[in-house]
Amino acid sequence: MSFSERLLSRATRSMGVSFIREMLKATKGVEGMISLAGGMPSPDSFPKDLLAGLFQEVVEREGADVLQYGASEGDAVLKAQILRHEGDTSVGPDEILITDGTTNAIYLFTRALIDPGDVVVCEAPSFSGSLVAIEACGAELAGVEMDEEGLVVERVRDVIRAKRADGRIVKFLYVIPEFQNPSGRTMSLSRRRDLIRTAREAEVLILEDQPYRDLRYYGRRLPSLWNLARDEFGDDRTVTICKSFSKILGPGLRLGFAAGPAPLITAMASWAQKVTVSPEGVAQRAVARFLERGYMAAHVERINGLYRAKRDAIIAALKESMPTGIRWTEPEGGLFIWVTCPPPIDTDILFTEAAKAGVAFIPGSKFYTAGTMRRDEMRLNFSYAGAPDLREGVARLACILRRT
Ligand SMILES: Cc1ncc(COP(=O)(O)O)c(C=O)c1O
Repeated sequence: MSFSERLLSRATRSMGVSFIREMLKATKGVEGMISLAGGMPSPDSFPKDLLAGLFQEVVEREGADVLQYGASEGDAVLKAQILRHEGDTSVGPDEILITDGTTNAIYLFTRALIDPGDVVVCEAPSFSGSLVAIEACGAELAGVEMDEEGLVVERVRDVIRAKRADGRIVKFLYVIPEFQNPSGRTMSLSRRRDLIRTAREAEVLILEDQPYRDLRYYGRRLPSLWNLARDEFGDDRTVTICKSFSKILGPGLRLGFAAGPAPLITAMASWAQKVTVSPEGVAQRAVARFLERGYMAAHVERINGLYRAKRDAIIAALKESMPTGIRWTEPEGGLFIWVTCPPPIDTDILFTEAAKAGVAFIPGSKFYTAGTMRRDEMRLNFSYAGAPDLREGVARLACILRRT
């Protein structure tokens, strides 16, 4: 072990490698490989021309302001535009924080709340990128099963009870209620109400992660937990929502925001100040002008058209070629399909077979916390590949599944 390795902190040394990152690395750039593995938006979805114009304009006209050190809680101009765009007239500027994407919001929220060993309840499965950010703050994750309606709230109550009986402190519930990554599931309205009721009764917080809320291709939008808590329960303390511009404008912008109770937002800003000083100034203002000029509605409509076609293409391909016994979700939005296989299929093993056949996916096991693991599922992404590749990728997978 080298000198510098020996000096690494215990926390750093206990950090595992990201299997998903390793898998993506192993399949990236391989000749003929069709990847349904990552979660990247389509490059065709980026509003390149509009952003190019706005970046140039913002630097030229507002450079003295936006190239200067900025506020840790984010650009006031962007905050005002976000609240206007979201239609949240009741939210004060001290209840919203601009972050470097949602991952950063999740990290700051957890940082502000968690003492080592405190418990965070999450969906099982859930997005591993968020889970590692939560664990990095010393939290212990407790995964709770989902069904077609989303998180099974009754089990959340059981877990909170059990953890408390064990002397543990449960601080918050981390949920992705819409087009969940990885399962594509959307939490039903009655579950949303039940979850808020449960959190209020148990006096734990909810962190609502909503990166896909605007990517709806069919059906009607449900109220967010954030809206429900405020409008139906008159409660502005329990839910903090975070949203991201990553899947709408481009993840390279590294912009998102969190809205929640003022004391929590202040605590998050205080941590942000110590680590990143402030979000990136030019990008914040360019996105503020994007919203101000009303470009967002037409843009979201365009990308929803693009993704609707991809979603329909992958579902048609699954229907056409998958052998009987294979089941999958048919989400009304988002970027992912969740496939469940009958026994004895193990998708960790299938991954290697599939890679040899030129198609990549993420095995379901990579989205579970310790103790809740399943190995009969896989996540398929449909936002990145084109329709012909989606069809061919699914056909290759179906061919291997038929042989297994
Ligand atoms: C559920 C969920 N949360 C958070 C993120 C991270 O997004 P960001 O790029 O805003 O950090 C993602 C990205 O895939 C996601 O799927």
